Formats: sequence, C-alpha cells, structure tokens
Amino acid sequence: MQAEYRQRREQFMAKIGTGTAIFRSAPSAVMHNDVEYAFRQDSDFFYLTGFNEPEAVAVLAPHHSEHQFVLFVQPKEREKEVWTGYRCGVEGAKELFGASEAYPIAELDEKLPQYLEKADRIYYHLGRDRIFNENLLKHWQRLMATYAKRGTGPIAIEDTGPILHAMRQIKSPAELKLMYKASAISVEAHNYAREIAQPGRYEYEIQAEMERIFRLRGGLGPAYPSIVASGSNACVLHYIENNRLLQDNELLLIDAGCAYDYYNADITRTFPVSGKFTAEQKALYEIVLEAQLQAIAQVKPGNGYNTIHDTAVRVLTEGLVELGILKGEVDKLIEEQKYKPFYMHRTGHWLGLDVHDVGVYQHGESAQLLQPDQVLTVEPGLYIVPDTKPAEDQPEIDPRWSGIGIRIEDDVLVTTTGNEVLTAGVPKLVAELEK
Ligand code: GLY
Ligand code: MN
Ligand code: MN
Repeated sequence: MQAEYRQRREQFMAKIGTGTAIFRSAPSAVMHNDVEYAFRQDSDFFYLTGFNEPEAVAVLAPHHSEHQFVLFVQPKEREKEVWTGYRCGVEGAKELFGASEAYPIAELDEKLPQYLEKADRIYYHLGRDRIFNENLLKHWQRLMATYAKRGTGPIAIEDTGPILHAMRQIKSPAELKLMYKASAISVEAHNYAREIAQPGRYEYEIQAEMERIFRLRGGLGPAYPSIVASGSNACVLHYIENNRLLQDNELLLIDAGCAYDYYNADITRTFPVSGKFTAEQKALYEIVLEAQLQAIAQVKPGNGYNTIHDTAVRVLTEGLVELGILKGEVDKLIEEQKYKPFYMHRTGHWLGLDVHDVGVYQHGESAQLLQPDQVLTVEPGLYIVPDTKPAEDQPEIDPRWSGIGIRIEDDVLVTTTGNEVLTAGVPKLVAELEK
C-alpha cells in the first residue's frame, strides 16, 4: 500500500507544481471528560499518507530541493505510549511512511517556513481547528511581510479540495477491494437482520446483531450510526434511538453499513416485519423499488449525475399520482416540487473513505458526468409522515398511508460499460421479502 500512497502524492504534487500543500490530521475527539473516541484519521490525510495518528501535519513541497514529503508527528515517548498506544515517531515516519524528512510536531512553527518561502502558493483546506487555521495565516502574513526581500513566497492560498477530491472520486483497484469487502460484510449483516426480525423483538436487538457481524468479520464497526426504524419511525430520516418493539403488520427500515479499513458501505432495506406487506405498504414499496431500479439503470459513464435523481423523482411522482396521494400533471408537479413532502432528500451521494464522500455533483450549469471507478449510492424513498398537511391544491392524505416510510439504498460502482451493484446480495424484490 505504501507504493500507492506515494503514487497518490506524486499525482497530487504534479498538479500543484510550485505550490506547497499542508494537511492537518484529524483531532482526537472527546467522548466525555477525559475519555476519547477511537481515533479516526482525516480522510484526505489518510488518502495521501496512510498515517493514522493524531497531532500530525503533512507537507507536500514538490519544488523543494531535498524534502518533497515532510511529516510532523508526535515523537516517541515511552510514558505516553504506555497509556495511549504505539506512536511511530519521527524515525518511523521516514522509515515506515516514506517521509523524506520528519520532525516532532512541536517544531512545526520553526520548520514550516522553509517549505513555504519558495512556493508560489499554499494549498490548504480551512479546517474546523480555528487555532491551526489562524496560525497558518500568521505564517503566510510573515512570509508576505518579507516577500520583497526574497522576491519569492506564496501570494495566494488555494483549497486542496478541487484537485485532491477529483482524485479521491476515482477508486483504484486497491480501494475497490476494500469497498467490496465492506459491502460483503454489510450484505451479510442485512440478510441476517431480515432472518431474525420478528414481532416482539426490539429494534436495538437487530442493530446489535448487525454490528456484531461488522466487527466479527474484521470491520471497524458501523460506518455511521445504524438506523433500525420500525413503523412510523421510518419517517424520521435520522432515527437512531432504535429502542422500539417491532410490531405485526409494520415495515422495518434498516439503514446500516460497515466500515472496513476506512472504506464504507451504506445499505438500506425496508421489509415487512411479519413477512407480508399490507396492500398500502406494497403499493408504495413497488414505486420506490421501480424508482431505484430505473435510477440505477442511469448509472453509466457519460451520463450526468443529475439524471439519477431526476429519474427517481419522476417515477416517484408518477406513482404518487397513480395512488391518488398527489393530483395533477406529473411535469408540473415535478416542476413545483410537490413530491417534496414525501421525498425530501436527494437520491444518493459519492461513497468511499467518507460515507458522504468528497467530489462535486454539478459544475455550475453543466452536469458532472459519471466516469468508470466512481462509487455512489442510489437511495430513493417515500415517507408519508403522520399529520402531513397537503399543499393547497392537493388532496387530503388518506390515513391508510400514514406512517409508512420506505427507502431502498444500494452502493453502485460505475464500470466502463454501465454499473455494478456492490450490494446486490441483499434481496429487494417483493417476492423475496415475503415469507
Ligand atoms: N446512511 C446515510 C445515508 O444514507 O446517506
Ligand atoms: Mn446513503
Ligand atoms: Mn444510508
């Protein structure tokens, strides 16, 4: 993997030419008092270095005569390591992570200027750490104050995102291998969840069994807080309490996926707890499924990213009209976004090192065209939120629809000829979900 990190740095450095890029590691996050969450490296930092310790800074200076890749890290310190674990240290940063130079993080302010003073710009993404942001601006200010003496120095700061995130959007074979693995574990967990779900069990029991599988198979754990939402809980998009008893004749919506080696899966399935859809549940489910299948069919190279959402919206709106939940001409209903009370989110997102992965969705007026080796989710849904007031020109909502929430989500790889659904191993056809 070190060869791949190096190759990514080289690709990035080729694009920044005479600039210097600075990347900050993720901060450690406090759970409560002095107890911390498990550390999770910042995805940009990890993508370029594979280094997963906190309190680190990576500098890429392609124009520097000696050091193109510099790491500032926590030094080895026996007493600290006994408490918080192994540190690779300054020497390790060079030997194990290929840094051409490494320093203790405490020397950042002293050593950083030499990597900036000949650069024509600084590449940096303003992060959440305001103190760090401010410190960097101070460095810039000092370099500009002495610019006249040298006639060199960074005259601008540019965000690293547009260059780096375009790279991260296209997955390498090594990345795809990890995404297949994350998908396979998540598929297994979803299939097991469907097996054990029945009236009388709690939502959290299903969550626990799924997350047990995530860990048991070597995953890091859930890629995001698992949503196990029965009945009308499915109409709360980010429901994570997961503490309700499953009941007969209700649907169970599960949105859960595992992280494997920093790569994520993101799957949603909705199925009847007692093995049979009611007529209303089935009618709505078939619409969402059709929307998802048609949207997935749009995933192919050269198609605009927006066509996925547009396709889903059209099928969902047509379906709502057929059921009498919406009234009017489909085109007009879409234009006026009359579907929004029932479908309030987008149809997907990029997927990778982040669950909501980086990368643009639209270039101003022009579409972002799909390319091979991008991975995205396709996740349409319909939610008849109880007590929804219809728009003025729309019918009252028949109570028989109330509280039904459905989403179907798969992870889809763009291939050279079309797409491959990485999470196809979890059934979603009505006949497959009924017992
Ligand atoms: N589970 C997060 C999402 O579907 O976007
Ligand atoms: Mn998603
Ligand atoms: Mn999801």
